[in-house]
Amino acid sequence: MQAGWRKKSHLFPVMRIGIFDSGFGGLTVYSAIRQRLPQYDYLYLGDNARTPYGSRSFEAILRFTTECVEYLFDQDCALVVIACNTASAKALRTIQQKLLPEKYPDRRVLGVIRPSAEALSHYPAGSRVALWATEGTVRSDSYAMELAKLAPGIQLTQIICPMLVPLVESGEISGEGLDYFLKRYWHETLSLSPNVNALLLACTHYPLLYPAIRRIIPVETEILVQGEIVGPSLENYLRRHPEMKARLSQNMAENFLTTDQTEGFGRLASLFLGRNVTAGQVQI
Ligand code: DGL
Repeated sequence: MQAGWRKKSHLFPVMRIGIFDSGFGGLTVYSAIRQRLPQYDYLYLGDNARTPYGSRSFEAILRFTTECVEYLFDQDCALVVIACNTASAKALRTIQQKLLPEKYPDRRVLGVIRPSAEALSHYPAGSRVALWATEGTVRSDSYAMELAKLAPGIQLTQIICPMLVPLVESGEISGEGLDYFLKRYWHETLSLSPNVNALLLACTHYPLLYPAIRRIIPVETEILVQGEIVGPSLENYLRRHPEMKARLSQNMAENFLTTDQTEGFGRLASLFLGRNVTAGQVQI
């Protein structure tokens, strides 16, 4: 275990922003958030020991996500961003409606689906948008439900892309093998929707594939990356919630935790983050 992340008694109370993901992928979202809001203190937790969440049951994802969010609360996070789409789709609502009012009335948890659906809703009525995601995210229908509330005139096509997370996790972020699957998912998208105005990469891992995806998908189709959506959305949330903003400490600190081995985390984290970081290991 590393000492850096341990709860300490502070002269001035530290209230951090927790970022949670099933593994490494949330680092793409964290990176964009930190670039936008560098002044705050962050604690990243990747549940690498139990990743991937993408094809797990609702019950398992809810249990794992709740455990990790409570752990981040215990480590003085006043606000937690669930960067994982699958966890946002399957656990966020229950956490917001049950866990927080019952046990943590002064803490807040935000997800990535609502801000991403809002970004899609800005396309004109009649637009066709698509998203690529894990099985859990697509089957939850969370995006379709949010978008139907925000912009019922927009047609959404959802494609399950089961090969993309394993490819990224094994470092295959370019090359023929990857292109084969990208083309396959794009043809599947077109078979359901012949014109696509925008494609949302609704999974933490996919931004790493952006250059490869951009090469395959015609320029007329805009590609939306979640980090660029969630950063401004968090900034906007803090502007609208000055009481939360005032509680957050601002020392520009960052710490990383993983539920699996720390060596593996450091190696892949540098791929996701573009710089080297070390993590502490926790048992949850
Ligand atoms: N973080 C997950 C997501 O954004 C992808 C990885 C996983 O399946 O756990 O949906």
